[in-house]
Amino acid sequence: MSGHGPATPMTAHKSGPLRGVAHVPGDKSISHRALILGALSVGETQITGLLEGQDVLDTAKAMRAFGAEVVQHGPGAWSVHGVGVGGFAEPSQVIDCGNSGTGVRLIMGAMATTAIAATFTGDASLNKRPMGRVTDPLALFGAQAFGRSGGRLPLTLVGAAEPVPVRYRLPVPSAQVKSAVLLAGLNAPGQTVVIEDEATRDHTERMLRGFGAEVQITDSPEGRVITLTGQPELTGQSVAVPRDPSSAAFPVCAALMVPGSDILVPGVSQNPTRNGIFLTLQDMGADLVLENPREEGGEPVADLRVRFSTLSGIEVPPERAASMIDEYPILAALAATASGKTVMRGIKELRVKESDRIDAMARGLEACGVQVEETEDSLTVYGRGADGVAGGATVQSHLDHRIAMSFLCLGMVSRQPITVDDATPIATSFPIFGPLMTGLGAQLS
Ligand code: S3P
Repeated sequence: MSGHGPATPMTAHKSGPLRGVAHVPGDKSISHRALILGALSVGETQITGLLEGQDVLDTAKAMRAFGAEVVQHGPGAWSVHGVGVGGFAEPSQVIDCGNSGTGVRLIMGAMATTAIAATFTGDASLNKRPMGRVTDPLALFGAQAFGRSGGRLPLTLVGAAEPVPVRYRLPVPSAQVKSAVLLAGLNAPGQTVVIEDEATRDHTERMLRGFGAEVQITDSPEGRVITLTGQPELTGQSVAVPRDPSSAAFPVCAALMVPGSDILVPGVSQNPTRNGIFLTLQDMGADLVLENPREEGGEPVADLRVRFSTLSGIEVPPERAASMIDEYPILAALAATASGKTVMRGIKELRVKESDRIDAMARGLEACGVQVEETEDSLTVYGRGADGVAGGATVQSHLDHRIAMSFLCLGMVSRQPITVDDATPIATSFPIFGPLMTGLGAQLS
C-alpha cells in the first residue's frame, strides 16, 4: 500500500550475545511468483510458508483485482484459484504495489500480452524508480505504456491484443526485467527468448517449469539463453516457499558481529543465484556452517549455524554481485566492524533499489564514525576492527527496509546506540524482524 503511516523511529543498543533459533520468513521473490503464477494457472495453487510482508500482500491484492481468487487459510498458508494464461480481467481500480519493485514489474509483465488496461502506482520510493527497463521490452510484444517522465509510476499499461514473441537481451542484470519478459511471453504465440550476460535469480524459470511451461536454458558464448514456449496451459501446484536468504542475512550478520553469539537459522534457501552473501562471509573468516543440506519445494536449503567471528575486510568478487545484490547494505554494516577495508565493486544497480543504497549506506556509516569511499558503482568501507564503531547517530532509512535493518544490526555492536528515523518499511519484507531479533537477545527500543 502506498498509504505510508507515520514514521516510527527504532533504536538498537549494544546487545549481549545473540543465542537461539531464528526462523526467518518465507522468500519474498518466490512468494510474489507463487501468487502470480497461481493466478495465471488453471485450478488451485496451494502455498505454504508465504511471506506475509506488505510487498507480497500488495501482490495478493493485485491478483484479486485481475480476477484470481486468493485466500489466506492460516499463517503462511494460502490458496490461489487462477484464471489461466491470458485470462486476466481488467481491474476496475488502480493497482497499488506499495514499496515493491518486484510486484509491479512482474505484474506488468504478466498482463502485458492480454488485451486489458491497468494503471499502476506505488509509494514515494517506488514512484521514483525506473520502469522503462520493463516497459521497453513489453512494448516489443505490442504493449503500450503511458507513464511519467522516465517511464515512472503512476503509469497505465495497455496490453497487446495480438502479441508477438520477443527475443530480448537484458541491458541490465535484473531478474525483475527477465521475469517480466518471460511472464509476458506466456501469452504470446511461439518462442520468447531472454538472454542474460550473467545469471540473476532463477526462481521464475524454475517455477514456470514446475507449473507446466516449457523452458529451455542454455549457456552459450552469447550468455545465458532462456527460451519459453508460449501459450502453455499452466496448472495449479503446491508451492512450499523456502526461508528467505536475504532476510536470514540480518540475524546471520548480527550474530557474526555481536561477541559470544551462537545462533541457528533453519531452512534457508541456498539457491546458487542467491547465496553470494554466505560465500562472502566465509571469505571474510566467518564461522558459518551449512548444516543438513536438502531440497525443499524445488530449492536447495540448509540450516545455518553461525557463531561470533573476528572478520577481515576483502575485495568482494564483482561477478558475485547478482547473487547477493540485496545483501550489500548489511555487508557494508558488517564490514564497518571487520579489520581492514572491504571493497564492493560492480554494484551500480544498488542506486535504483528502494533507495540509492550506496548513498544511504555511505551517509549512515559516516554518521556512525566509519570512513567510506564511493564511486558511481562501488563502495569501500574502512573497517574499525578492534577500535569498534562509534554509533550515536540517527540515520535515514529512505523508505528502505534493508537500510533500516542494516543500521539496527550495526547498533547492536556500536559503542553508542544507533537510531533509524523510520522502521516501518521493515514490514515490507521482514515483519517479525523486531521480535525475532529481541528473542535472540538484541536490545531494540
Ligand atoms: C528481485 C530481483 C532483484 C532484487 C529484488 C528482488 C526479484 O531486483 O533486488 O529485491 O524478485 O526478481 P532487480 O531485478 O532490480 O535486480
